[in-house]
Formats: sequence, structure tokens, C-alpha cells
Amino acid sequence: MAAVSLFRLSPPLAAVLLLSFLAAVQSIGVNYGTLGDNLPPPAQVAQFLKEKTTIDRIKIFDVNPDILRAFANTGILVAVTIPNGEIPGLTDAGYARRWLAANIQPFYPATKINYILVGNEILHWGPQNLRDNLVAAMRSVHQALLLSGIKDIKVTTAHSLGILESSEPPSLAKFRPGWDTGVLAPLLQFHRETKTPFMVNPYPYFGYSPENANFSVFHPTKGVFDKFTRRTYGNMFDMLMDAVYVSMMKLRYGDVEIAVGETGWSALGESFEQPRCSVANAAAYNGGLVRKYKSGRGTPLMPRKRFDTYIFGLFNENLKTGPLSERNFGLFRPDFTPVYDIGVLRQGTAAAPQQPVPRPALPAPAQEGKKWCVPKPDATDAELQANIDYVCSQGLNCQPIQPGGPCFDPNTVRAHASFVMNTYYQSEGRHDFNCDFSGSGVLTFTDPSNGPCKYVS
Ligand SMILES: *[C@@H]1O[C@H](CO)[C@@H](O)[C@H](O)[C@H]1NC(C)=O
Repeated sequence: MAAVSLFRLSPPLAAVLLLSFLAAVQSIGVNYGTLGDNLPPPAQVAQFLKEKTTIDRIKIFDVNPDILRAFANTGILVAVTIPNGEIPGLTDAGYARRWLAANIQPFYPATKINYILVGNEILHWGPQNLRDNLVAAMRSVHQALLLSGIKDIKVTTAHSLGILESSEPPSLAKFRPGWDTGVLAPLLQFHRETKTPFMVNPYPYFGYSPENANFSVFHPTKGVFDKFTRRTYGNMFDMLMDAVYVSMMKLRYGDVEIAVGETGWSALGESFEQPRCSVANAAAYNGGLVRKYKSGRGTPLMPRKRFDTYIFGLFNENLKTGPLSERNFGLFRPDFTPVYDIGVLRQGTAAAPQQPVPRPALPAPAQEGKKWCVPKPDATDAELQANIDYVCSQGLNCQPIQPGGPCFDPNTVRAHASFVMNTYYQSEGRHDFNCDFSGSGVLTFTDPSNGPCKYVS
């Protein structure tokens, strides 16, 4: 009924309602790791996610019954992970059924379990007997689910990008020899037969260098051109995803869906981890990821693909070992205060049940009046095209420069770039650096609007 009356509304209003409806039914997910001695009880976590955030799916690294119980009847989807050590045993059909009966069936369907991951990053970390039994264990768990009459839990496992021999350029990527036909082809065959996604953990974080900083965190760059596919990559995440896709295609499994099991960025690190680890980088990366997810734009080789995505992670976890950065991947502190906001907090709700976090004061908005972002006179068409590709890959509205849109004419790269560069500047918070575009943008005090083409201000 809602859908019918929607179309009696004016088209823009209908579009807004439709978008908010879509947003309401699908959101980015988050990994809820529990390696902390100061984390809130699962019931509070469930209540917090449901009431204060738009996050509608979590992934956990075990089958913790307290968490499964806490998320019952919340509507939040829960992806669970079977401990690695269970893999050899699970190849036995009887054991797989008993395992399900003990660990899943007591909670399902009150708790909306959507995925069972059979182990985590087995191919990368081994040992060999787990790798050898991985696909058989996945098949066995899938069979056990069917025999129990459960049809809507998907079986998968997550892979680090250590499965790739190379990822750059994406067109030349391929899986590591030995794993390609040995494990990954049978695994992809399982995913094809069961219509389940191949799950990967891409971390541009690990590919970061001060030179490619902007490219890694979804900031504007000229992009990276793949001469074999003639596609320009605006960010490293897309490049890693297409590297996975090309590798799958080389084994003839390009039809299998891909999901993102983990990806994220640490907000704080040791001095030797600088300048990688910062709140600004973490907010830019995870914020860019959320915008990308909402836009449903996909990658250069997989346009309009929206990958089921789980950010790592929900909380800073103080018991994680390794350098300081490992304990600072969280979107939230254990007291639920946000480390930074990436647009997953519900409007009008105080994010923090405890004391509010003082926000650093931003520079005062331009007192001189309104500003617009336009191309510099000496910016080249190649630079401007890269800006268009970048902005339009970020989920911002590029409809106006499409044929039929109010800003299609004049149909030049410069005019189109001007419109979308300004859209980007205005929507990113109007900081001067939002108009830098690697030195190809400049601010102006003159409204560039032109006839029906109205620039945002
Ligand atoms: C990243 O972008 C900013 C703003 O556009 C620019 O000032 C900086 O030089 C860029 N960094 C690198 C390493 O290219």
C-alpha cells in the first residue's frame, strides 16, 4: 500500500521517501569483536545498535551464546563464525548436525542469523589440515542446515587478500598458484551451487603509504588508470575488489557474489605507525565506505554492485595484542561514545548515553558569504574527468550532468566537472581542502549557476 501511494507524490518527494525506505532496510554492517575487559554487556550493545544507530547487521568471531541471545528479536542480522579448530570435525555429517543443534538452533530464528562463516582466514593462516578440510566442512554445514529445514542461513568463510598473488593493476590480478585450483576453485563452485557470497577482507589500510594516502582513504586524487581495462580507479578499495573479481573470472567464477567480511582503519597508533593511524584517516576511510555502500555504485568492473559489508570494528578492544593501532579500530569506545561519526548514528539521538564528547570546533564558516568550488582555469580535461569519476563514485548525485539533466548542457568535461566538484565541496563540509582536487579546484564567490543548472550552495 505504501508503495502505491508513493507514486502519487511529486517525483522528488517520492524519490526521497523511496531512498529513505531503501536506507531503512539495508545498512552497512559492523564486526563486533569482544577482546576487551571493559566492553558493555551484549544486551546493552544490542539495544544501543538498535536505538542509536542505523547499523542493522553484525558479524561476530565466534558463536557466543550471550550475544546470540542478546540480539534475539532485535531484527539485527547476525553473522557467526565457527572456530577454526572445528573444521576437521565438521566434515563428518553427524558432527555437523550435532554442532548446529547445540550452537545455532537454540537461537534461530528469534536471532536472525544470516551467515555462518566456517573459520576465519584459514587459507592465510593455516594450518594445512584446516585448508585441506575447509570446503568439505562448508559443504557439510550446508547439508546439515538443509536437513534441519533451515534455508536462509548462508555458509561462507572469510579470506584475507593474502589469497591474491598480485592485485595491481586489477586486470593482472590472480589467486596464488596452488590455492587457485586447489582450494579456491572448489570453494567458488560451492558458492555458485549454494548461491552464497565469496567473502573477502580487503584492507586498504595495509596498502597505505604517505604517497598514496588520499587514494587509500577515499579522498580525491587523479586516480589510477588500468591500461588493460581502460578504467580509472578513484580509490584503493575499488581496486582491491576488482582484483578479487578478475581473479575469480580467471577461474571462470565471475558470476559468484562477493561480500566484504572485514575492512576498517585504526584511529590511533604508535609513532612508527604515523601518519597512517589518525582519527581523520579512519573517519575518511570508514565514512567513504559508508557513502559508497549507500550509493550502491559498485566498482569500475562491477558497476551497481552493493557488497554486503562489515566494518572492523564496533569497539576499541583493549586486550588485542600487537601495536597500539590494533586496539583502536573501533567506531565506538566501550562507553558507547563515538570515536568519530561516519553517518551511522540515528538523527536526533544523543550518541553517548554517558558524558557527551566535546567536539573540536571547526573553523567558522565563511563569514564573507557563500562560496562555490570550480575548476582552475589551467586544469586539464584529464584532471577534470578524474574529478568527475571520483565524485560520481562517492555516491553523490551526478544525475544533473547526465543526458536530460539540467546541467548536461554545455556538454563539456569542464562544465560537468565544475558542477560535480561543487556538489562534492558543499556536501563534504565546505572545508577549503574539499575543493583542492589535487590542485585542480578553486573557490569562487560568484554563483556559477547557469539557467536551469542550479549549483548547490
Ligand atoms: C592529498 O590531498 C591533499 C588535499 O587535496 C593535498 O594537499 C595533499 O598533497 C595530497 N597528498 C598526497 C600525498 O598527494
